[in-house]
Amino acid sequence: MALQLGDTAPDFTADSTEGSISFHDWIGDSWCILFSHPKDYTPVCTTELGAAAKLKSKFADMGVKIIGLSVDGVEDHNGWSGDIEETQGVALNFPLLADPDRKVSDLYGMIHPNANDTLTVRSVFVIDPNKKVRLTITYPASTGRNFDEVFRVVQSLQLTDKHKVATPVNWKQGEDVIIVPALSDDEADKLFPGGYNRIKPYLRTTKCPS
Ligand code: BEZ
Repeated sequence: MALQLGDTAPDFTADSTEGSISFHDWIGDSWCILFSHPKDYTPVCTTELGAAAKLKSKFADMGVKIIGLSVDGVEDHNGWSGDIEETQGVALNFPLLADPDRKVSDLYGMIHPNANDTLTVRSVFVIDPNKKVRLTITYPASTGRNFDEVFRVVQSLQLTDKHKVATPVNWKQGEDVIIVPALSDDEADKLFPGGYNRIKPYLRTTKCPS
């Protein structure tokens, strides 16, 4: 069965551009974004890896480590890294897992046989420090990911883990949030002393907690 939200992210040991990686140990106390690439030396993936490398420090500021996977071997990954740096203006600055035997791809259901029976789709998994899967997104090989959206969801997850709020449609960091319906008005009065807007009994908005 496909990995679902709340499942423990499967652990594995695999070779990468930064040496052998024991996944859970590598994540440590951080959040993690694991994302798959169909193949080395492919154009869309090249742009994605460049974009991810540019976002690495922004993710690190939020306690998030990023790690890619492609079904080719480390030698190909290393050769491709040169092209990524040359064409995207940034060097690969996070590990790219090698998965020539599809071990990790199979564990994470990254190969969708009716789309392509050997290459991975573009999977994204956000994994929290407890190693639980918190977000899954699957893109087709022909469509490059929107890493800004992944970043936005991590911001929402971290906020909503900490406070009794949820984030509305198209929410961006700093914008008003929704008080979870499970909270009574009395509890909301105590938890949000700055006040809130009661549009409906189940729809109450408040300033984004800092
Ligand atoms: C790409 O990354 O450009 C790509 C990879 C596999 C199939 C189609 C496009």
